[in-house]
Amino acid sequence: MNPAVLGIETSCDETGVAVYDLASGLRAHALYSQVALHAQYGGVVPELASRDHVRKLLPLIRQTLAEAGMSVRDLGGVAYTAGPGLIGALLVGAGVGRALAWALDVPAIGVHHMEGHLLAPLMEDADLKPPFVALLVSGGHSQLIGVRAIGDYQLLGESLDDAAGEAFDKTAKLMGLPYPGGPHLARIAERGTPGAYKFSRPMTDRPGLDLSFSGLKTQVLLAWQKSDRSEQTRADIARGFEDAVVDTLAIKCARALDAAGMDTLIVAGGVGANLRLRAKLQEQAARGGGKVSFPRLAFCTDNGAMIAYAGALRLAAGLHDAAAVEVRPRWDMASLPALPAGLGTRDSGLATAR
Ligand code: KG4
Ligand code: ZN
Repeated sequence: MNPAVLGIETSCDETGVAVYDLASGLRAHALYSQVALHAQYGGVVPELASRDHVRKLLPLIRQTLAEAGMSVRDLGGVAYTAGPGLIGALLVGAGVGRALAWALDVPAIGVHHMEGHLLAPLMEDADLKPPFVALLVSGGHSQLIGVRAIGDYQLLGESLDDAAGEAFDKTAKLMGLPYPGGPHLARIAERGTPGAYKFSRPMTDRPGLDLSFSGLKTQVLLAWQKSDRSEQTRADIARGFEDAVVDTLAIKCARALDAAGMDTLIVAGGVGANLRLRAKLQEQAARGGGKVSFPRLAFCTDNGAMIAYAGALRLAAGLHDAAAVEVRPRWDMASLPALPAGLGTRDSGLATAR
């Protein structure tokens, strides 16, 4: 098979496109963010997201191929995010990806968005191989996963309520920060005084690997309502919140590594772009003699490169999906078939009805 795989990400509010080639690496990638479109509503409006993906996807594919110095004829496969995500948004990427693969007569595969995030750190670090523990922290998921092989995922713990990114976004919103709140909150936290506000480290006082962030959000709300609501107080509260989330995640990561008997941690998903989380986990790994790995900042948040990469690995192992536009707004990652190669052509787990 020609190894160049086109990756398409349209699960939420970013249109991401990339070409990844297992032989030569990332050939090109491009991203269009819909942040400005949704900002006036304070969150993602699903129907507007779908329509914007329709407008932006084809131009972005042309742009990415041009940057890679390729034409569609040079593609050996197509990978698109098939779930989890917003159904209308997913259908745009799946429809375009499927149609393109059909026209080019190349295999196509629906990629699990969180597997894309999980594999992103491997794209740029040739020495990084399972087994490892993955901390997946995005807007919709907070999970600790034991990775024994690519595709062999064991859920060790997860958030019982808000995902870490969701907690950042909601907390930012209640203090009047614009959408998407996570990066804004992290930015103002830099000006906050450490220790001025001390919030709890939820569920760290008992054994277990599950997480919970909604109580922390309520603590922030109460502190904010009682405060003088000055800029400095907002920064102080933001810093207190960020430190609580970062400490909690660091404690749970250390526990997960212990429980799994592993010494390598990878971190992925939008909250993986948080600089304080990165620094804390690096410091913890250095102290404990382990290793921690993150994707570059741009590949923590949603992007096409991670989908192209995850798809390229699965296509190279002979996996592909039937020629049907199928998406899964909800999708359990533990149900994915394990790699490595040598499995022969088989269905990746998506429904095959045409
Ligand atoms: O992975 P992602 O781009 O999309 C999903 O799959 O959900 O993650 C987006 C989430 C948002 O909740 C956003 O606020 C959060 O990641 N995020 C951050 C930072 N950058 C993005 N949270 C904290 N600090 C950041 N620097
Ligand atoms: Zn994501």
